[in-house]
Amino acid sequence: MPVPVDFAQYIDVNADKFIQRLSDAVAIPSISSDAARRSDVIKMAHWLNSQLNALGVETRLADVGTQEIEGRVLPLPPAILGRIGSDPKKKTVLIYGHFDVQPAEKSDGWDTDPFTLVVHPTNGQLIGRGASDDKGPILGWLNVLQYHHQQKKELPVNLKFCFEGMEEFGSEGLDELVVKESKLGGWFEGVDCMCISDNYWLNSRTPCLTYGLRGIVYFKVNVTGPSRDLHSGVFGRMVHEPMTDLVALMSKLVDVKGNILIPGVDDMVSIADAEERCIYENLDYSIADVEQAAGASIALSSDKVEVLMGRMRHPSLSLHGIEGGFSGVGAKTVIPASVSGKFSIRLVPPQTPEAVEPLVISYLQDEFAKLGSKNKLTVENLHGGRPWIADFKHWNFEAAIRATKATPAIYKREPDLTREGGSIPVTLTFSESLGVNIVLLPMGRGDDGAHSTNEKLDRSNFIEGSKLLGAYLYEVAAVTA
Ligand code: BES
Ligand code: ZN
Ligand code: ZN
Repeated sequence: MPVPVDFAQYIDVNADKFIQRLSDAVAIPSISSDAARRSDVIKMAHWLNSQLNALGVETRLADVGTQEIEGRVLPLPPAILGRIGSDPKKKTVLIYGHFDVQPAEKSDGWDTDPFTLVVHPTNGQLIGRGASDDKGPILGWLNVLQYHHQQKKELPVNLKFCFEGMEEFGSEGLDELVVKESKLGGWFEGVDCMCISDNYWLNSRTPCLTYGLRGIVYFKVNVTGPSRDLHSGVFGRMVHEPMTDLVALMSKLVDVKGNILIPGVDDMVSIADAEERCIYENLDYSIADVEQAAGASIALSSDKVEVLMGRMRHPSLSLHGIEGGFSGVGAKTVIPASVSGKFSIRLVPPQTPEAVEPLVISYLQDEFAKLGSKNKLTVENLHGGRPWIADFKHWNFEAAIRATKATPAIYKREPDLTREGGSIPVTLTFSESLGVNIVLLPMGRGDDGAHSTNEKLDRSNFIEGSKLLGAYLYEVAAVTA
């Protein structure tokens, strides 16, 4: 079944209405990591649920339990399970996306209010938190549904949906739901393949499909000593200071070249041979791309292959911050009583959070013992997710490649095949419990600034990307396997 002739035109004609809908979605500050915003994440779930219902999708709001955060027990936002069509002659595609977003404040350096979608007057960029990660792509699917609903066109495949509101905070509760609903008689029964639109092109020119994601394991290292904050003039050089101990520890995790110093962690991963290096050599990418996206000339190497492998096929360790230390304005002369360092390690196969955690904990304890400090050390594992890698020779990828080549404007070309450095922890759970192929079909570009200030989605990526998602469904329907 080819894509209906009026599909692309419908998307073009309704583009402004689709942008208005994205603006409505961005206006709900559904920040999953902020306890004070939990009601907004729940509001967002209900908003999306009613949009789906209005477009003919049957849904169930699945309770995924509660969470302890900032000393309070909070309800987790429901996951939305949806389905439309049950024709046994058609393929069934499962779509995943997340409707929660990262925190954003104008004072972080945004040019405009992060939760008011702004259409840039000259370049058409749609600027707002979640525009690219991941409200734009979710709304892309709604645009496809709307065409079929309003024009009374049958969908080429049966669709199932799983939209969640805790992805940016480790997808709490979702693994259990996915495992349960993948069983016989569960919501996902009969799924043939899966598509996730929740990542970005490698650069700002070439579309891509993605067949790998890194996993993650996130740690909080606490050093405590005095029973309360102390005056540095009174106690300085008299006592062991928690911040001094913590900074010494944090400095032993990774070197300035990115090498992970925890014994055994880097060694778990094989060294790329010449054939594998070729994959990275052939990607449309340059050092200028990483430096443009980072906003400064700070690439770790001038060798494009090394830089790309650093993101896609090696683990990385990043230091995120220190909680409890003095971070306000002014020059307070305090010795903080208790400080916590936060860092995470991105994982690649065969690494898992379970295999890496003991190495990290024993290394931190050994290094702490070497300091000879009388302060106390504790290490917490805040969350984790395993890496995922897919077979890109599968018909699901072939369908996505054909759709990319057939979609006009910014697409109409062979996509790059990439692995991603980021994590969508539930991907491996889906792949293992359903046993189906998963393709990542991104909508946004490499310079969208997901998680950063002035996050944007180009208008062309939103509109043409909606056409791409639609075309993908027709290409899956055409597969005879
Ligand atoms: N959309 C991203 C995942 C992603 C990031 C894919 C970068 C490709 C490149 C997702 O919303 C995300 O940010 N995930 C978190 C997960 C973490 C909190 C467990 C991440 O990667 O930091
Ligand atoms: Zn995302
Ligand atoms: Zn994200």
